[in-house]
Amino acid sequence: MKNLRIRTSGKAVTAFKQLLLLISLMFIFIPAIISGSGSTAPPAIWQILQAMFLSGFALLTVLVLAVWLLSRFSPVKWLKIRKKLILFTRMFLHSEEDGLLLHSVQWQYSIEDGKITVFLYPNGLEKDTADIGRRLSEYLRKPLLKYEESDGMARYVFGRAPERFDGMEKMAEGITEPTGCYVPMLSYEPISIYDGVAWDFTSEALHILLIAPSGAGKTRLLTYLGGMILKRQHRLYVIDAKNSDFGMTFRHAGVPVATKKEEIIQLLTELVQEMEKRYSTFYTDDSAGADFKDKGMQGHFLIFDEILSVLSSADKKDKTEIERLLGQIALKGRAAGFSIIITAQKLNATDLPKAITEQCQTRIILGGQVSEETFHQATGMYKKDTGSVYKGGVGKGYAVTPKTIGLSYIETPLLPPNLRDCLVLLKELRDRGTPYGEGR
Ligand SMILES: Nc1ncnc2c1ncn2[C@@H]1O[C@H](COP(=O)(O)OP(=O)(O)O)[C@@H](O)[C@H]1O
Ligand SMILES: [Mg+2]
Repeated sequence: MKNLRIRTSGKAVTAFKQLLLLISLMFIFIPAIISGSGSTAPPAIWQILQAMFLSGFALLTVLVLAVWLLSRFSPVKWLKIRKKLILFTRMFLHSEEDGLLLHSVQWQYSIEDGKITVFLYPNGLEKDTADIGRRLSEYLRKPLLKYEESDGMARYVFGRAPERFDGMEKMAEGITEPTGCYVPMLSYEPISIYDGVAWDFTSEALHILLIAPSGAGKTRLLTYLGGMILKRQHRLYVIDAKNSDFGMTFRHAGVPVATKKEEIIQLLTELVQEMEKRYSTFYTDDSAGADFKDKGMQGHFLIFDEILSVLSSADKKDKTEIERLLGQIALKGRAAGFSIIITAQKLNATDLPKAITEQCQTRIILGGQVSEETFHQATGMYKKDTGSVYKGGVGKGYAVTPKTIGLSYIETPLLPPNLRDCLVLLKELRDRGTPYGEGR
C-alpha cells in the first residue's frame, strides 16, 4: 500500500522544477557560449567550465527522467497512478490552504492482478465519496468494481470486470474423471458465484434473498445454485408455482418439486417437522454451538422461486401458513442446516415479513430496471452506494454477503439458453451421491 499526501499546491512544485531546469540550462549554455566566443582563458577556468557543462547536462538528464517517471505517462504503474491521483485531487477535490502548506485529502493505493485498490481519507473536505468514486472511475477510465464506505474513509477497487464463470463447467468439475474414480462425498465448500463472491452456506449467509425483475436471470442462478447443492450432496427441494421448465428440469433430475399450493404447504410442513426432529434428536444441550457441518450432516435446501406470486394468489389463511413455516426455517434453520433460497421480482417493505427477509444474509439483486425502493429493501443500501452508475443487467447485479463488505458487483455463472440442456448434468449430480437415501 503506497501513501499519498498532497502537502503543497502544484505551483510550488512547478516553480521548483522550473528553477532546476533554469539552473541546468545555465550550466550547459554558459560554458558553451564562452567557448564559442573564442576567448582565451587559463586551463583551470576551462576545467571549471567543462565540469559546469557536464553537471548541467547530468542535471537536465536526471530532471527529464524524473519528470517522465513521475508523470501520468510513466512506465512505472504505481507512479502513473500516483500522478493521476495528484492531478485528480488538484482538479476536482477541495483543498484548504494552511499557511504555506495545504490541507488536502489523503490517499492510499496498491495495484495487484491488474486491479487498483484505492483508499480515500476525505479529512473532512469531501462528503460524497460515492460520487468521487464515479468521477475517479471516469478519470482513470477503469470500471469501478467495488465501493465501500466506513468511518472516515472510502475504499474503491478499479479494474476490468473478471470473466463470468461457466456454470456447466463449474457444476461438472471433477465428476467425470477419466479414471472413473469419482467418490461422492458430502461437501461444505462455499459455492462460488463470481470472482470474490461465494455463498458460504455453513455460515449466517445460509439463507438467500434473490431479487430481480422478470427475465433478469433469477431462474438461471437458481439452477446453478441447485446444481451445486446436488454436487455437494445435500438435499434439495424446489417450489415452482409457475410449473415452468425450471421445476420440470429439476423434477426430471429426481428432485422433489412442489407446484400447487397444497403441495407447497405440505413440503414446508414436512421440512419444518424434519428440522424440529433434527433439533430434538441431535441438538441436545451438550452439543450447543455445533452446526450441521460439525456433525457431518446433510443440509436441506429449499429453493422457492417467485415467492410473491404464490403469496399474492393464496388466500389469507394459506398465506399466513406459508409465511409462518418459512419464518420458522429462516429463524431456526441455521444450526440444523435448513436453508431457504427465495426469489421475487420486486420487494417493497410490506411484501414479505421481516422475520423472513432479515434472516437472509446473502442478498442478490439482478437486472437493469430495479426501483430505488426494491434496491433498498433488497440490499439495505441505495443505488448511489454502488459508487457508479447502477450497472445491473441480465445476469448482472450486486451481492451483499456477511463475508464481503458493502456491495459487490456480480455476473451470474453462464448456463445454456435452454434449461433442459442442464438436465443430464443435474441428473448425474443428483445420482452420483445418495442424498435421498435411495442408494441409486
Ligand atoms: N446465467 C445466465 N446464463 C445464460 N443466460 C442467462 C443467464 N441469466 C439469464 N440469462 C438469459 O436471460 C433469460 C431470462 O433468465 P431467467 O433466469 O429465466 O430470468 P428470471 O427467472 O429472472 O425471469 C434466459 O432465458 C437467458 O437467455
Ligand atoms: Mg424465472
